[in-house]
Amino acid sequence: MAVALIVAAGSGERLGAGQPKAFVELGGRDLYRWSVSALQTTAGIERIAIAMPQDVEGGKVPSGFAVTALPEIIGVPGGATRSESVRHALEAVGPGDPVVVHDAARPLVTSDLVERVIAALEGEPAADAAIAAAPVTDTVKRVDGAGAVTETLERSELWAVQTPQVFRRAALERALDVPAAELARATDDAWLIERAGGRVIVVRASEENLKVTIPFDLRVAELLLAMRGGPHG
Ligand code: CTP
Ligand code: MG
Repeated sequence: MAVALIVAAGSGERLGAGQPKAFVELGGRDLYRWSVSALQTTAGIERIAIAMPQDVEGGKVPSGFAVTALPEIIGVPGGATRSESVRHALEAVGPGDPVVVHDAARPLVTSDLVERVIAALEGEPAADAAIAAAPVTDTVKRVDGAGAVTETLERSELWAVQTPQVFRRAALERALDVPAAELARATDDAWLIERAGGRVIVVRASEENLKVTIPFDLRVAELLLAMRGGPHG
């Protein structure tokens, strides 16, 4: 059976809400709870560990979850960087393989997407990880420090990577077993696998699975959730 890690311990500086992003209200509930609901209703997930902001609910099961809720939910304090938060959650979650990693900042995730990413990894024995991603629609250019374009990248090869990302447990444990400075460079966990020569496959996901980073994203997420018909579970 799989286990899932939700990282919700960031401060949300770019959102600028004056409180951690996890607790910003979105469609009538705290932002991170949308991800919890989606993972709780995903088939094949045995337990969920959530890395929470240290000074708020870190180390405790976040309030409002029934202790009898299945799958079981474990709260842990987050780390200084995203990958350290992943490591804390992995240490706390208990046995289970593969490991689903999801950013609480993506509240539009669906259990259908999580199940498809798990299935993709199951279906490819040579892969170490499977990750949700969508083809890039903008043309992407490399720009130097002076603001001049140095290169236009081949768009047909570019994918914008999301979470969920699903890992074979041994591969994720190895990938996270690096110095804190290396962890700090990682904006996703799959990179830690790639750089060690691991095989990561992409699973086509909807652009709707957006990351709430700036206030604009929060407004878009609110509209998309309203179109789905409000809070479930
Ligand atoms: N995250 C975490 N622990 C950290 C930093 C980030 O658990 N030390 C989580 C965030 O809560 C979020 C995900 O990693 O769900 C992606 O990070 P990001 O979108 O950058 O969120 P923040 O770091 O909170 O935002 P900002 O960078 O604007 O401060
Ligand atoms: Mg951040």
